[in-house]
Amino acid sequence: MKVAPSRVEDRPALQALLGQHHSLRVARRGELLDSSDHPALLAWSGDELAGAATYVISGAECELLTLHAASRFRGTGSALLTALQDVARSAGCRRLWVVTTNDNVDALRFYQRRGFRLAHLRPEAVTRSRATLKPEIPRSGAYGIPLRDELELQMDLTGPEPSQAAAATSRALSGGRTAGTGP
Ligand SMILES: CC(C)(COP(=O)(O)OP(=O)(O)OC[C@H]1O[C@@H](n2cnc3c(N)ncnc32)[C@H](O)[C@@H]1OP(=O)(O)O)[C@@H](O)C(=O)NCCC(=O)NCCS
Repeated sequence: MKVAPSRVEDRPALQALLGQHHSLRVARRGELLDSSDHPALLAWSGDELAGAATYVISGAECELLTLHAASRFRGTGSALLTALQDVARSAGCRRLWVVTTNDNVDALRFYQRRGFRLAHLRPEAVTRSRATLKPEIPRSGAYGIPLRDELELQMDLTGPEPSQAAAATSRALSGGRTAGTGP
């Protein structure tokens, strides 16, 4: 799989993927953003778009605005996240953050396993977005969980590079041996 910045000619494929996931418009922190108006990293499997991450860099902060894998659980999300960390570090960012929702327990697992920490809980923020910004937000989310709250997670980018952090975790889990058994 190859990860590369989105080019002008990739925009229709990006918009199709975002559209399939109802993510062309993203409501968070009381704002509505058009995700495809922002820079993106695309994961390609041959000529097939395997996933996309859109992001916003503002000063020393990078927001991961959307992250999607066309087929889940094949490493696409991890590859995109690693590439975004590199982009954000190269742009001088010190913090990477993402907003997800209370029902998205798979994403909460995914992000925390990859170094994000919970930073903020905004109770009923999704309820407010549904009422004022994006009425199509469903009331019931993943696993039938009522969709109500925003959770913001963040990662400090001033620490070790991801590969070093992963190696350290792997060593810790294997009791100091350099095993290749981690995720
Ligand atoms: C979140 C998402 C981007 C992750 O991308 P992905 O390509 O599936 O991620 P990876 O394959 O790199 O890793 C998948 C993780 O799910 C785990 N997983 C595998 N099968 C699973 C299953 N049936 N249920 C839940 N988790 C599973 C994998 O073990 C791995 O986690 P781990 O390495 O920490 O154990 C993707 O699932 C997705 O598109 N979700 C829908 C959109 C979304 O919620 N985006 C985030 C919004 S903030």
